[in-house]
Amino acid sequence: MCGIVGYTGSNKAAEILISGLKRMEYRGYDSAGVALEDYAEDGAVKLDVIRRVGKVQGLESELAAREDLTATCGIGHTRWATHGRPTVKNAHPHTSCDGKIAVVHNGIVENFAELREELEGRGHVFKSDTDTEVFAHLIEEAYEGNEVAGKPATHDLMAAVRDACSYVVGAYGLAAVCADEPGTIAVARKDNPIIIGRGEHGSYVASDVIALIDATRDVVVLEDGQFAKLTPDAIEYTDAEGNVIEPEVTHVDWDVDMAEKAGYPDFMLKEICEQPRVVRDTLVGRMSGAGELDIDELGLTYEELNLVDRVYVIACGTSFHAGLIAKNLIEGWARIPTEVEAASEFRYRNPIITPSTLVVAVSQSGETADTLAAIRDARIKGAKVFGITNVVGSPVARESDGVIYTKANKEIAVASTKSFIGQVVSLTLLSMLLAQVKGKLTTGQVRMLFRELGDTAEQIQHILYTQQVAIHEAALACKDAQSALFVGRGMGAAISYEGALKLKEVSYLHAEAYAAGEMKHGPIALIDQGFPVIAIATKSPVYDKTVSNLKECEARGAMIIAVATEGDEEIKQIADHVIYIPKVRDAFVPITATVPLQLLAREVAILRGCDVDQPRNLAKSVTVE
Ligand code: F6R
Repeated sequence: MCGIVGYTGSNKAAEILISGLKRMEYRGYDSAGVALEDYAEDGAVKLDVIRRVGKVQGLESELAAREDLTATCGIGHTRWATHGRPTVKNAHPHTSCDGKIAVVHNGIVENFAELREELEGRGHVFKSDTDTEVFAHLIEEAYEGNEVAGKPATHDLMAAVRDACSYVVGAYGLAAVCADEPGTIAVARKDNPIIIGRGEHGSYVASDVIALIDATRDVVVLEDGQFAKLTPDAIEYTDAEGNVIEPEVTHVDWDVDMAEKAGYPDFMLKEICEQPRVVRDTLVGRMSGAGELDIDELGLTYEELNLVDRVYVIACGTSFHAGLIAKNLIEGWARIPTEVEAASEFRYRNPIITPSTLVVAVSQSGETADTLAAIRDARIKGAKVFGITNVVGSPVARESDGVIYTKANKEIAVASTKSFIGQVVSLTLLSMLLAQVKGKLTTGQVRMLFRELGDTAEQIQHILYTQQVAIHEAALACKDAQSALFVGRGMGAAISYEGALKLKEVSYLHAEAYAAGEMKHGPIALIDQGFPVIAIATKSPVYDKTVSNLKECEARGAMIIAVATEGDEEIKQIADHVIYIPKVRDAFVPITATVPLQLLAREVAILRGCDVDQPRNLAKSVTVE
């Protein structure tokens, strides 16, 4: 995930920026860069922009070798690629045409295509593929003035940044410097974190408190729509109209480890709690003004999609479970026969593939060996391959015909949580698109589904706020069990598989998942007094059937934990513990119902003394067969 740092003061900026960027390395990135004030031969201030693909270490060595870099003001960035591949030209900072303005940015400029076209029409020349670069040119226009745009020159960096932000739709944490205003950093925030502080030797800004805690513990967390002008001796905070405001100062007493986890006790919880943001970010920019789904990295034409008559979803582990959900959606909405296969099996079978087969490869890391081998095999056999991955430029992205990037950002805990939600949201978009192209869903229906899909962000937040106690009690009830069963029907069955995997991988408690109707064909023999059965029993067309299956378990002494729909009192008659989730359409239940199962797995693991972030025997990326 991208990181921003900035410093203006009396010390050497290069060292401070590098140390801040290094502190944010844990977040993951693929390139890094800085913009530092420097002197041109005529004595005027100019900006030196130095960028590297790869580790901050490379950038550090380059800066250390440059004795001329004595700047005391600069900005820096680590980039986790979203728009545009991880290359030097796409690394931040990005500059204006005259190179006098440099910006670093976290977030997404949703209307960047329109803005870029307008700016190019007024003569601006773009040097990168990023959305961020529009900021540099917009600020330049406001600073220098532009006749075509009817803008007078402000010659005021803060005012120019404020003006630029007024054109941008999307999210930003932004820091900008200007060669004509040495020692000033202008900062803006909307839906992306920005932290600011004053230290003994100057003023600091970062997107993560961890980059500031060596300089100061008293910080201002900028709020949406607020701006800040940093100079070596002062910081001025303003609102969108430029009125000076007095922000609240927060004292941070976290150590480095706590700061990396943003105050959460572990990465797994942090990442579970990030899921509302993942839903929002994965949907940003996906619906055009005309109500059409917009997947710009699609790589396949609508004609090609219309020809698809069979879909294989290939993936491993948690990503495979996202595929089970996609099968329900693609078959339900687009009416295309869909099979879900473990990539490790698919590659050694002889699946029926024709040129009208679409293979959807799902992989968080984008480098799982089995999934990659299956992609290559499918392409040799003539299938079109569509990738769903979290990592821009990863092998899965490169070797697929088209791709959707989940916007989970770097996931650190080994067990996937937020990337699963990103995958399910992306697969839901793909299912809607296939249905729209096939004429099975109207534009109006797609628009309505899209809106409801977006609502799941709030619904996850609601679960996170309201169900902690219920989940904790359920975890206490099953922490000493030897084994547990997860059951559900339809979407509930697909969710059960993910619930069981999460529990076993982080708590080492043996767990299996079954379609609830299968219980009486064997697994019910396991049930005796107190045996935990975790049921997805939300209100759906198969609710009554699921309840009947649970009654059979209850009659044999099972301890039932039900994930149920808010308002369902009846379920309390058979369930020992109920975790409530808001009512959503069945298609979107996986996005909400998985969240309590992730939290349950984590709680049980903690009660059993397990390391939830690094379970034994597991690796985050499985690049061997
Ligand atoms: C489980 C988990 C794994 C991965 C699997 C595939 O929590 O993380 O099961 O889902 O190893 O990895 P990716 O998605 O990177 O291909």
